[in-house]
Amino acid sequence: MSMELNLMTIFHRAIPIFVLAGILFLAVPATSHGPAEHKEGTHADHEVAMKSQHERMANFKEAAEMLADAIIHNAPKLAHDGAEKLDRSLDGHEKDMPHKNRARVKEFHRLYVELGKRTGNLKAAIKADDLPRSAVAYGRILEICAACHRKFRD
Ligand code: HEC
Repeated sequence: MSMELNLMTIFHRAIPIFVLAGILFLAVPATSHGPAEHKEGTHADHEVAMKSQHERMANFKEAAEMLADAIIHNAPKLAHDGAEKLDRSLDGHEKDMPHKNRARVKEFHRLYVELGKRTGNLKAAIKADDLPRSAVAYGRILEICAACHRKFRD
């Protein structure tokens, strides 16, 4: 009798446990839904960052072409504009991310910083109206473009 009672008690106690387990079970997909939505947010941010990185490369290319033309044709005004464009194109590079070798993101950003420094050297050479020195400074810039592409371009 007392044994039976105990079993009944256990049975009745067990029901709320099953109910609780059921609630927890339902709650699991609900909580995992939260982070999934959050991921979508970062994905959108990622798209924006990728687009700006893509535009940056187009601007880099334009600036590099202006500089090459300026050096070849001995055109200081065009050289000045090209260097300014390169400098401006670096703005906001902190948000860029490599598509591959993501673990080496520090190295990726160091290359941008180095590009900024070398752009400074180029501007100084152009300001001194020294196109041969500008040509060397320009070559040192292309070195960084090439180094980053070799390591991080898809
Ligand atoms: C810190 C890394 C880094 C540096 C520095 C860099 N690039 Fe790039 N570049 C990339 C990556 C990554 C890609 C491919 C993906 C993309 O376009 O975002 C790329 C792609 C390009 C493209 C292909 C066009 C395109 O949008 O796919 C051009 C042109 C380009 N870069 C020009 C340059 C020039 C010119 C320089 C130097 C003045 C330069 N890049 C410096 C990382 C870099």
